[in-house]
Amino acid sequence: MDFELKTLDLAGAAAEKCDVLLVVVTEGFQAKGRDPVSRLVSAALAARDLEPKPGKMLHAYRPEGVAATRVMFVGAGDGSGKRVHAAVQAAAGALRSAAAKKLVIVLPAGSGDAAVRAAVCGTAESSYVYVATKSKPEGRELKKVVIGVADAAAHRQAFQRARSAAVGIEFARELGNLPPNYATPTRLGEEAQRLGKAHGFAVEVMGPKEVARIGMGSFASVAKGSAEPLRFIVMRYDGAGKGEAPVVLVGKGITFDTGGISIKPSAEMDEMKYDMGGAASVLGTFRALAELKPKLNVVGLIPSCENMPDGSAYKPGDILTSLSGQTIEVLNTDAEGRLILCDALTYAERFKPRAVIDIATLTGACVVALGGVRSGMFATDDDLADQLLAAGDAALDPCWRLPMDDEYAEGLKTNFADVANVAGRAAGAVVAAKFLHRFAQNYPWAHLDIAGTAWKGGASKGSTGRPVGLLLEFLLAQEGRAVTATPRKAAAKGGRSRAKA
Ligand code: BES
Ligand code: MN
Ligand code: ZN
Repeated sequence: MDFELKTLDLAGAAAEKCDVLLVVVTEGFQAKGRDPVSRLVSAALAARDLEPKPGKMLHAYRPEGVAATRVMFVGAGDGSGKRVHAAVQAAAGALRSAAAKKLVIVLPAGSGDAAVRAAVCGTAESSYVYVATKSKPEGRELKKVVIGVADAAAHRQAFQRARSAAVGIEFARELGNLPPNYATPTRLGEEAQRLGKAHGFAVEVMGPKEVARIGMGSFASVAKGSAEPLRFIVMRYDGAGKGEAPVVLVGKGITFDTGGISIKPSAEMDEMKYDMGGAASVLGTFRALAELKPKLNVVGLIPSCENMPDGSAYKPGDILTSLSGQTIEVLNTDAEGRLILCDALTYAERFKPRAVIDIATLTGACVVALGGVRSGMFATDDDLADQLLAAGDAALDPCWRLPMDDEYAEGLKTNFADVANVAGRAAGAVVAAKFLHRFAQNYPWAHLDIAGTAWKGGASKGSTGRPVGLLLEFLLAQEGRAVTATPRKAAAKGGRSRAKA
C-alpha cells in the first residue's frame, strides 16, 4: 500500500480524485471556507446531523463540486492519536464495502504528529487481509492513501516513521498468522536471511549442532521432541559507530506449543501457532529499522523451535544445564518459553548491550492479569521501564509494569537443581519473569509478556503485530543517546520496582 503526505485544506480536498474522501471532524471544528466540502461540514454540524463525537459518521455520494465518489465525515473527539485511530477504524467497514482503491484522509488544522501516525497505522491495520493460504486470494482493495494536513513539511518525520512502523507491524502480523506447518523455525530463519539480504544487515542462522556446541542445553532440550530442527537467529542492525553499545531484542520463537509431555488440552490449541509472536515482533522491528536507518545499533536474537511430545522429548524431572551453567529442573514441559529464552539472555551478554529486552507470549497468567489491552512489562532498571511505558503509550501499543520482588521466586526452589522451571499457580506472569531474571543479571533488562496482546480471539481472530509499534518507538527515542560499549551495572537485584517504592 502506498502512502502520501500532502498539504491539503478542505478546498484542496474537494479537488482530490479518489474513491473515498474521509474528513476527520474534531471538537471545535470550524469550516469557514466557501468550497463545497466546507459547506457540507458546516451545514451538517449546524443541523446536528454530524457531531465531532468519536465514531459518529455521515456519508455523501457524489456531492456537487467534489471530485471524490464518496465523502465520509467521521467524528474524532479531541483529535488525539487514540481518537483518530478509532475514527479511521470506524470508517474501515464502509471503505471495504465501497471497495475503495484510493482514499484521501483530511485531518483538521491543528492536528499533531500523533494524529498523522494514527491515520497511517489505522488505515494499514484495518485494511489488512490475510490471503497467504487461501486458494482464491482476494487481497487488500486499498492501494493508495493520501493524508492531507495543514503543513506537510511539519509532519514529514512522523509520517515516515508511521509508514515504516505500519510495514513492520504488518510483517509481524503476517508471520504470526501463518499456520505452524508453514511458519516453522526453518522458515523464520529464511525470513530473517531474506530481510538481511534485501536491506543490508547481517544475519546468522544456527542449527542444532551450533547450538549444542555453544552450550545452550536448555534451549536444545525443548526442541528434542520435534522433527523440525531448531534455529537460533542472530540479526545485527549497525546504524551507529562500532563503539556504541547495542540494544538487544530477544524474541520467543516457539512455532507451535503443544505443551510437550505436559500436554495442553485440545480446545483452541491451534492458537499456539502464535507462540512465535515475540520472534515475529523482532523481525518486524528489524524490517522497520531497515527502512528508517536510525543511527543506533540493534541486535536481534531469536531462539526458535517447536514444543512437541515424543519418545525423544524432554520430560518432567529432567535436569537441564543452561548456557549460564545454572541447572534447571523441568517440572512442567509447557513452561518451555523461559527455557529457550534463558539461553538467549545469556548469549546476549557477548554484545555488551546497553539494554536487553525480551518479548514473549510467555504466560496465560498475563492474559488473566491484563487481557489484550496492555502487555505485561518487567524491568530491573527504572529508566528503561519508564521509557518502555512512554513508548507504548505514544505508539498506541501500551504496556504496564508489574513487580519483581524476590519473594516471588521462592516457589522456584528445588532439591535437585539450581532452579525449577515452574512454581505454583499464583502470580504466574511474575514467577516467569523472576525465572528469567536469574539469567539477566549483567545488563539493564526488561521483559515484555505479550501473551494477551500479540493476538486476538473471536471474529477478528488473528495476529496483531504488537508490540512492533512500542519497540520501534522505544528504539527511535534511543537515537543520539550515545552509550559506549561498557555496560553500566544493572540495578540491584529485583530493581527498584514501583511496587516496592
Ligand atoms: N505459550 C504459553 C503461554 C500462553 C498461554 C500464551 C495462553 C498465550 C495464551 C506458554 O508456553 C505456557 O504454556 N505457559 C504456561 C506456564 C505454566 C505451565 C507455568 C501457562 O501459562 O499455562
Ligand atoms: Mn507452553
Ligand atoms: Zn509457549
